[in-house]
Amino acid sequence: MKLIMLGAPGAGKGTQAKRIAEKYDIPHISTGDIFRANIKKETQLGLKAKEYMDKGLLVPDELVVDIVADRLLEDDCKKGFILDGFPRTIPQAESLDEALAKMDTKMDYAINIDVPDENIVRRMSGRRACVKCGATYHLKYSAPKKENVCDTCEGELIIRDDDQPETVQKRLSVYHKQTRPLIDYYQGKNILITVDGTVDIDKVTESIIDILGA
Ligand code: AP5
Ligand code: ZN
Repeated sequence: MKLIMLGAPGAGKGTQAKRIAEKYDIPHISTGDIFRANIKKETQLGLKAKEYMDKGLLVPDELVVDIVADRLLEDDCKKGFILDGFPRTIPQAESLDEALAKMDTKMDYAINIDVPDENIVRRMSGRRACVKCGATYHLKYSAPKKENVCDTCEGELIIRDDDQPETVQKRLSVYHKQTRPLIDYYQGKNILITVDGTVDIDKVTESIIDILGA
């Protein structure tokens, strides 16, 4: 199964993509996670990406499209994959289509997790991320067992640099301008699924699996 997760920042793409990837045994490819791993290792790519991410802006298309195209050629992607945070602009979507055409395949579904902006700001303020493994928690909706400690790897939980309220507002406006048009793009290809992302985490997963099939 080849899937794309669409949705505003904080809509729950990462949370759901992880669950769907486990359920269907496919790799979870998050461009945000790839950039954060590079920032942590202080690579050239990480240093460049950080400049944009900290301002709530998108990293330029040319820094991201080849990374994804190369990742899709790896063996584990033969059984399918779930893209989280990519594509994020129409040019990225077009370059993804080209990469898939070369591989003689196409996407099955684009899953749009729909959450109004008001809910997003509230959610982001409670998000905590593991410094070691990147796992995501929420102080209220998916709290770790021990305060500020990751359940899986015992890493410390921190607030992401780009989760400051002003940056969240900027990310939302960038989403509306640059990423939301992808909803029409995938609707036009007849592969768009929209699910209500305001209900609790398990319910969102259930509604996605209901549509994809068990
Ligand atoms: P990225 O990491 O992709 O960030 P994002 O799209 O802004 O999405 P988030 O990770 O913030 O949120 P999410 O939708 O995954 O929500 P989550 O599951 O964590 O990108 C970061 C930056 O990298 C971008 O701003 C950009 O600069 C750059 N970048 C990345 N990809 C790029 C690309 N392709 N091109 C250019 N630049 C790129 O959930 C949020 C919180 O809510 C969590 O605390 C969670 O526990 C909680 N939660 C989730 N679901 C629910 C629910 N149903 N009810 C209650 N709480 C919930
Ligand atoms: Zn962890």
